[in-house]
Amino acid sequence: MNRKILLVMALEAEAKPIIDRLNASALPKNLKLKNDFPRFGCQFANNEILISLNGKSKEYDVDRIGTEFAALNTQTAVLEFAPDLIINAGTCGSFSAFADIGTIITSDQPVVYHDHRVPLNGYLPFARGNYPTAYSLAYFKGISHKLGVMSTGNSLDMTALNEQQIGHNPAIAKDMECAAVASVAHLYGIKFLPVKSVTDHIDTGQNDIEQFVRNLNKASASLCEAVVQILNNINAS
Ligand code: ADE
Repeated sequence: MNRKILLVMALEAEAKPIIDRLNASALPKNLKLKNDFPRFGCQFANNEILISLNGKSKEYDVDRIGTEFAALNTQTAVLEFAPDLIINAGTCGSFSAFADIGTIITSDQPVVYHDHRVPLNGYLPFARGNYPTAYSLAYFKGISHKLGVMSTGNSLDMTALNEQQIGHNPAIAKDMECAAVASVAHLYGIKFLPVKSVTDHIDTGQNDIEQFVRNLNKASASLCEAVVQILNNINAS
């Protein structure tokens, strides 16, 4: 069956190996989208693939990491491309006893936030997120991976409150886009799959930022292998 698969990605460095491997071509800019989400398209394993990036901040010339642009990117791509499946591929922090650098993590449990704290009556579950995933073992055939709760926030570093919330969730992966992409997928009733590769350990006391920079290429290479295999597996499933 010919499916439309949308890959939502935040960092150019995470996406480049996948774009190159799939031989995806840059698509023309949509002039109506002032936010300019760089897009790449191809046919791969009998499916139509759109890779849509959060894009760069014009003011600061850095990738627009975080939930706001992840949600905007996802919604505009959904409206234009009408995907059957949305994959949020990227990197994450994790725990040293659970996952090595470059380990692939996904989830068969609802995706949550760790920095939406709204302790008002009735708002707690809304703030937590709890968006479903479409995990299936068949998608991950041949891919060594770990399963657990993914938790999203808008900071790369870790405050004591975030640490407490991640422990409470309890999450094994900390990222900056997953729940935002999942929320848009849920809004439009589209299947959602997170695929994350570990860049840093959030429990060792080592600087998260230094680890992230040091390990980004290794984690992105492992992410690329996993995503390509998943796309092949989807074709076979
Ligand atoms: N992406 C990669 N590592 C991360 C971390 N420690 N926190 C949030 N997002 C991340």
